[in-house]
Amino acid sequence: MKALILSGGTGSRLRPITYTFAKQLIPIANKPILFYGLESIIKCGIKDIYIIVGDTEKEIKSAVGNGDRWAANITYIKQEAPLGLAHAVLISENYIKDSKFIMYLGDNVIKSGVEKLVEDFAKSKDIDCEILLNRVKNPQQFGVAEFKGDKVVRLVEKPKKPVTDYALVGVYMFNKKIFEAVKNIKPSSRNELEITDAIQYLIDKGYNVKPHVITGWWKDTGKLEDLLEANRIFLEEIDCEIDKRVKIINSTIDGKVKIDFSVENNDVEIINSTIRGPVIIGKGSKIINSYIGPFTSIYHNCYIENTELEHSIVLKNVKIVGVKRITDSLFGNNVELLETNKKPKAIRVMVGDSSRIEL
Ligand code: DAU
Repeated sequence: MKALILSGGTGSRLRPITYTFAKQLIPIANKPILFYGLESIIKCGIKDIYIIVGDTEKEIKSAVGNGDRWAANITYIKQEAPLGLAHAVLISENYIKDSKFIMYLGDNVIKSGVEKLVEDFAKSKDIDCEILLNRVKNPQQFGVAEFKGDKVVRLVEKPKKPVTDYALVGVYMFNKKIFEAVKNIKPSSRNELEITDAIQYLIDKGYNVKPHVITGWWKDTGKLEDLLEANRIFLEEIDCEIDKRVKIINSTIDGKVKIDFSVENNDVEIINSTIRGPVIIGKGSKIINSYIGPFTSIYHNCYIENTELEHSIVLKNVKIVGVKRITDSLFGNNVELLETNKKPKAIRVMVGDSSRIEL
């Protein structure tokens, strides 16, 4: 088996973060979303991994590398424009060739692994495609499947009136028949080659498309609420881990708290503060006179002073001083949120396009 991970696209629902940053690299419990899928593929023993990249090619490549650290071979395939999931399959044929493969959407996170599914699909002689399904409350926002017993009969992409509540999870398994399918479909009304249409082609041609309903936790991390939920779920799993060299002065640390440390990044300092886990704090960050509450992930080199913050995700190099109290928030890289004594006393902002601020 080979693997195809989709990490192109635009991430429009996460603007403004995605104006400057690949959505698949937003960290969940301080690990980029993309790494959850990648590591779950690696656990299946798959070595040949292809990653579809678009405009954010450079940053994806620099975060992931060539696969050496996982003893895998990672090859990047450039997609000139986000022309659809089936288009990504179309441009991968020369790499995947006759092999069976798992396709994993780079913004999806599935808590349970996929090892057993991959193993069974690799062995099977008569299954051409296997799709993963999960019951959801908002099927209109997904590809939706109808199935009878062990056979999928119809797939519709983001239907206005869904016939079932079984959404397509962003993990698919295919054999080479999918290449025939993606060459025989037309772009949809949103001008994308839809993977649902390609799988429908397989069904219509009488190929064997099998459903597999998963019951564990899964998220398409398309929106802020989804990111916060994923962050919550993975923070619940962390172990308490605080390097002895972390400077903790006059502070209280309760519950599961993980603090990273690296010599190069200067050490983490927690001074006159309360940290109530689950919380994760990245290398080089400093927390002073502050409260960091449950379900908060603070990435590397952040500076937080005189602030109360909880249930939030904070990316790199963020500075927050004198703000009480922040919750349910996402801070992009290099953001500053500061209290000031300047007169007149007023709010002053320099906010990027499509930002949202609630006061
Ligand atoms: O998350 C599951 C859903 O994913 C399925 O239920 C839908 O059937 C499927 O179409 C897909 O819907 P989305 O609208 O959520 O897909 P999105 O545009 O967010 O793209 C998913 C991933 O694929 C994301 O990491 C970006 C990447 N991508 C997307 C497109 C359109 C590419 O690499 N190339 C592309 O052309």
